[in-house]
Amino acid sequence: MMTMKATALAHPNIAFIKYWGMQDEDLKLPANNSISMNIGCLSTRTTVEYDPALKADEIQLNGSYLSGAGLARVKSFMCHLRQMTGHSLFARINSENNFPTGAGLASSASAFAALALAGTAALGLKLSEQELSNLARWGSGSACRSIPGGFVEWRTDSSTHQSYAASFASEQHWKLMDCIAIVSSEHKQIGSEAGMRLAATSPLQGARIQDTERRFSQCRQAILKHDFMTLSQVTELDCSMMHAVMMTSNPPLFYWQPQSLGIIMAVKQWQAKGLPVTYTLDAGPNVHVICPQEIAGDILPRLKKIPGVLEVLKGLPGGPARLIPEDSRLESEKV
Ligand code: PMV
Repeated sequence: MMTMKATALAHPNIAFIKYWGMQDEDLKLPANNSISMNIGCLSTRTTVEYDPALKADEIQLNGSYLSGAGLARVKSFMCHLRQMTGHSLFARINSENNFPTGAGLASSASAFAALALAGTAALGLKLSEQELSNLARWGSGSACRSIPGGFVEWRTDSSTHQSYAASFASEQHWKLMDCIAIVSSEHKQIGSEAGMRLAATSPLQGARIQDTERRFSQCRQAILKHDFMTLSQVTELDCSMMHAVMMTSNPPLFYWQPQSLGIIMAVKQWQAKGLPVTYTLDAGPNVHVICPQEIAGDILPRLKKIPGVLEVLKGLPGGPARLIPEDSRLESEKV
């Protein structure tokens, strides 16, 4: 019998324009359009093997079997994949990250992007990028942005309920370095799915959504024109707007740690001295400090010296999700 096995690699992504909140939770449609960049050196590698002898999906992450909410989430994604492809086999899934899981590094994005690709390729299916992005979205919204490469936009067409991400500039377009200052590797208390359900309780969410198109176009143009100053302004504004919504939800969510604010303040000082550098945070305390590659050699040692910074990871814009040999090694770049 033909082996029904495939291995895929995907990168997490960091959003410059964040999505936060759902327009329709059942259809997995986001409340607003978003823009992100894949983070090249960080990767998830996932092998999926369908086995007619299995009575349920089995999932290992970084060498341990998943249980609880994590397991339920992957199983529900696999159900969706089975429905979509019309088969009924269960799978053995083995996934590995080369970066801390669940600490605001969007591990669910690379996880479901790699799973969508490996899970369909193992069945001998060759989905288009659009179909894969649409599928990955059912695991985690931001996973749809980890299917295409480089700089990616995710738009929802509410009239057709179509929602998938597409690249608008390749990974070679702009060598921006994401220097990720890790202040905690612990699993966050409130995941983004639960957090987003609270977004509509914030009096600020409506204003954030209403202003998204303006920030989205500004950010897209800034990336296309390599305009770091505008990118920096709109990225920080967008991050503050999302965290303001989180902090004013009911109950409120505070993802920042004191060390996160310490890093933000340091970045503001470096900017005041003329350095092209900016920051953003997802649903976690770690700070993504972004700068052109040429000045990363100056920024990285400064970041490492800030109290509370445990380690710094770095990555240039990453390529699309892709199939790889099962035994390929995953290496991240610590500095
Ligand atoms: O789709 P999720 O569950 O990975 O949520 C991602 C939410 C943020 O990272 C906070 C914002 C974003 O657009 O990536």
